[in-house]
Amino acid sequence: MIVPAFKTLRVAALAAILSAPVMAAAPAPQDVVNARVAGFKKMGGAMKAIGDQVKSGTPDKAATLAAAQTLATTAKGQGKLFPAGTGPAAGVKTDALPAIWTNRATFDAAMAKLVGESNKLVAVAGSGDAAAIGAQMKAVGAACGACHRQFRSDD
Ligand code: HEC
Repeated sequence: MIVPAFKTLRVAALAAILSAPVMAAAPAPQDVVNARVAGFKKMGGAMKAIGDQVKSGTPDKAATLAAAQTLATTAKGQGKLFPAGTGPAAGVKTDALPAIWTNRATFDAAMAKLVGESNKLVAVAGSGDAAAIGAQMKAVGAACGACHRQFRSDD
């Protein structure tokens, strides 16, 4: 039975042809947007956790340090989640403003500022010193807000 065998082969070949370019292609723009939104939410959660520890007056050293590390690690990865073609012009659901891609150096500097302030927070997070942690948290929050004012649409 040559015909069915040939058919099977064609189906297999077609499947290979169809899947190969899909696997090699860049991720869909909306997936990239979703990944960065998830990263921002993760950072928001870490900030909340640290804020709760500060408010307690006696921050748990391990818990505060862990949250600060989550924040710093996530911050470090956020910049690469803004590749060209993932802004509003791509037809995706996003609050990212086109200015990110026309004013990239300023955006990258704002992200670098966040990474720097987050690393400083890691440095004090395990101290148990509520005042020092609170002060550095404010600096991190200012870095978040400075970027949102310039580069996020709902601010
Ligand atoms: C360098 C710029 C920049 C910095 C720094 C920054 N953000 Fe954002 N943030 C954005 C942009 C742009 C968006 C919109 C992303 C999108 O919709 O594609 C956003 C979105 C968000 C969102 C909304 C997610 C949702 O539900 O849609 C949250 C929450 C958020 N950021 C929290 C933070 C926190 C907390 C920090 C600081 C720890 C921070 N961001 C620092 C640029 C920044």
